Amino acid sequence: MDIARAQQAFTPVAAPRLVPDLYTPDELDRLFGVLQEKGPWQSIAAQTFSSAEEFLAVAGAGRPATELSLSDLITPTFRGYFAQQAVALHEEIQDVFYSTRLLNLVKEMFGAPYAIPAQFFFNLRAPAHSLDAGHFDPQVWRGMDMMKVPVWLSAVMAKSGLFDRWEVPTGQVITYFYRSEVDGGFTYWPEGPAAPPQRIAAPFWNDAVVVHNPRMFHRGEASGPVQRRANPPEFRLDSVIAAEDPQHWVIRNGDQVIARHPVRDMRFLFHYGARVFRDLAEVSRYYDHTDDLDLETVFNLLIRDLRARGIRFTEPSDPLHDDEFVKTLATAYAVAPTAYPAEAPLDRVS
Ligand SMILES: [Fe+2]
Repeated sequence: MDIARAQQAFTPVAAPRLVPDLYTPDELDRLFGVLQEKGPWQSIAAQTFSSAEEFLAVAGAGRPATELSLSDLITPTFRGYFAQQAVALHEEIQDVFYSTRLLNLVKEMFGAPYAIPAQFFFNLRAPAHSLDAGHFDPQVWRGMDMMKVPVWLSAVMAKSGLFDRWEVPTGQVITYFYRSEVDGGFTYWPEGPAAPPQRIAAPFWNDAVVVHNPRMFHRGEASGPVQRRANPPEFRLDSVIAAEDPQHWVIRNGDQVIARHPVRDMRFLFHYGARVFRDLAEVSRYYDHTDDLDLETVFNLLIRDLRARGIRFTEPSDPLHDDEFVKTLATAYAVAPTAYPAEAPLDRVS
């Protein structure tokens, strides 16, 4: 993919804005109450990917895809939801999800008059390497969001730039919790993937950034004590994490505990996302479904574009589940950061 196009596609509307001490103590009690009491929580990889090809289409930086399996690429990072599809899943945090304060942070970043809260989830990360070479969050298009489109396809669509006219812009408020000073920062590329990155260093607790993450490469850095970052030997895609008591988190396969971590070694983030609209006509188009994207159009446009570029491929009968086709698309629209902070280099799969 040409560099000028990638730079333009992946430059956010604004650089990240820091908001220290975002949630009130009462809100934090209720939010962390969900994490502690409503688990166990599944790994992000289990919820997101079904093959190594799919992972590499999103977060691969020119690594050899052929001999890798998904279990080589996963880390003990888990996810649960406070809210999904604009609906709060836990009543005790409903007021936080619908708060004016969070919504206005996103509206201000875009200078947009209208917005709706859309997403609110949390990541729980046990000590881990960072295999993430830098990624961007899923975009939303009219008629199509991450509930309908697998993440790998969403990534290819965003990189292709072919679907921008259907895009519904989204902004995020990401709040970090990691008390350790050992790594664990946030790397981001605010001037595009070809420009040098910046980073926010740990420790943090209740420190938020307002970001345009679908249009900005970023990543969580390796975290936890260095000697504890290797995956537990029995770690699997379907391993889960849960609070054992207020001071400890355990990773389990079913009922079997395979790792135990003190809370101080854990890194958490809360991810709030809102969709924004520049005028009421955009709001109507969104809710009236008069100009929606569908999967047939997506694959038609991608296939036409591949042909126009002279790329040879076999037209798939089941394009959603065809590893060769995933690889063709990932290669055709490859774009990834090239430089990493000296303090937070890229961990390689060994
Ligand atoms: Fe992200």
